[in-house]
Amino acid sequence: MYTTIVTSLDDGIFTITINRPDKLNALNKQVFTDLDAAVDEVYNNAAIKSAIVTGAGPKAFVAGADITEFSGLNKEEAMELARRGQLVFFKIENSKKPFVAAVNGFALGGGCELAMACHFRLCSENAKFGQPEVNLGLIPGYGGTQRLTQLVGKGKSMELQMTAYLVDANEALQLGLVNHVTSSENLLEKTRAILNVIMGKAPIAIGKIIECVNVAALSDSSFNNGKSGYAKEIEAFGDCFITEDMKEGTAAFLEKRKANFTGK
Ligand code: COA
Repeated sequence: MYTTIVTSLDDGIFTITINRPDKLNALNKQVFTDLDAAVDEVYNNAAIKSAIVTGAGPKAFVAGADITEFSGLNKEEAMELARRGQLVFFKIENSKKPFVAAVNGFALGGGCELAMACHFRLCSENAKFGQPEVNLGLIPGYGGTQRLTQLVGKGKSMELQMTAYLVDANEALQLGLVNHVTSSENLLEKTRAILNVIMGKAPIAIGKIIECVNVAALSDSSFNNGKSGYAKEIEAFGDCFITEDMKEGTAAFLEKRKANFTGK
């Protein structure tokens, strides 16, 4: 049924594994289609009580949006890409059943944004988190400007996004980006153990906690002419796509060379 993810259901826990290890599980359009349908399964299948999101292979959770799909997009198409990503991630964030990210390696760009859309995160010792979009002349587009700020605070969020610095597992723990660090071998087991505790509680109360905590984390939409930070992000993401620096940044990544930005 799915081509880019693998799913399994054991004792009420639905595990969604992004499965493009040769591309470090980069999120292309098909991954979003598959992920969206898998999240629907979580919503609709009464046998599913909670979900884990993880990545295939030893190296990456998800190394970002698939950069090969960026070339040639105009502003409107780029905004549509961001909108689509945000919608799937909102669905994860607003699920009444808990979603936990088990981050087993690189969680960069869209990968970090996917992990942050989950209700909380565990990671393995080799995990690396970051929003390196500025290297491509871009900004995060799947909610990263908003959720990173909610999780680590404004100053750290600004620095991490502006420098494209990659945070290791222990720094991620200190920053509150993850709740626990464990060995790669124990990552899924530890995640399942926590979900088993949660699944022993009242499901309606769990759903209400998710709802209330999400409200506490919402950005203030009274600024920016009533537009939320997420809508602002979509527009700014689209704006980046009509810059020469974005074309240069993505071409440099694909050609495996350093980008030469000119500010145009
Ligand atoms: N989109 C598309 N392809 C990607 C990708 C992405 N975001 N991230 C990795 N890949 C691909 C690489 O192009 C490479 O493909 P190839 O073997 O066909 O050349 C493969 O995955 C393995 O990646 P590689 O770069 O060779 O691994 P590495 O260990 O040298 O470096 C990273 C790992 C994560 C540091 C590096 O892949 C990287 O910087 N990725 C992009 C991260 C990023 O900018 N994400 C935000 C996107 S908005």
